[in-house]
Amino acid sequence: MFQLPRALLWDHNAHFHPWLLRQVPQRCSRVLDVGCGTGALVRRLVERADFVDGLDVSAEMIDQASARTSATNVRWLRGDVLDADLHPEGYDAVTAVSSLHHMPLRPGLTRLASLLRPGGVLAVIGLYREESAADFAMAAASFPANAAVGAYLATRGRAGKPHDEGMPVQDANATFAEIRDAAGEVLPGAQVRRHLFWRHSLLWRKPGGR
Ligand SMILES: C[S@@+](CC[C@H](N)C(=O)[O-])C[C@H]1O[C@@H](n2cnc3c(N)ncnc32)[C@H](O)[C@@H]1O
Repeated sequence: MFQLPRALLWDHNAHFHPWLLRQVPQRCSRVLDVGCGTGALVRRLVERADFVDGLDVSAEMIDQASARTSATNVRWLRGDVLDADLHPEGYDAVTAVSSLHHMPLRPGLTRLASLLRPGGVLAVIGLYREESAADFAMAAASFPANAAVGAYLATRGRAGKPHDEGMPVQDANATFAEIRDAAGEVLPGAQVRRHLFWRHSLLWRKPGGR
């Protein structure tokens, strides 16, 4: 991928935090952030929820997240979401930013859905492997937009801060079409959309509840 100069880099994951926060109920009891990394989203969720669990399989990420947070309504949990021991009554919202593609797709979606209480919301920002003309068109639009946002942030002294170094990253295997098809099977009614900056969203509300 064409790389911007370091001074213009910015955090594509954090760009989607406002979208994610809009999907989480204004006031809720419990939220889980899956693959929380150094905890940037969790630090925003603690203002909205009574309790937030930040889960990551990397001990280093959990240590860094914990060291950066003074909030008392958060638990930092080290574990693999596929088999971690999490809240037995389920969560009002489960978020996952750039972590779904680290897991097998269908088991990952099934597990995320199972962690919600009835009526709970799953909000995912993910990566996909580009394959179709629509994927490449979105990627082509992302390059100049990426540079423009980086240049704008630089004028405000807020560029030059990509995601944290040392964060576990990997390439996406699943294409957008595969993610949309899997979501259609596992999470009927889910909305899956492409976005700029090499990301997709997935939004689903678990049936039932209030
Ligand atoms: C690319 S990072 C994104 C971190 C963070 N969400 C952000 O937006 O900055 C993906 C994170 O998911 C974590 N992860 C990968 N597979 C996981 C799993 N099965 N269970 C929990 N965390 C996982 C990785 O350790 C890594 O910290």
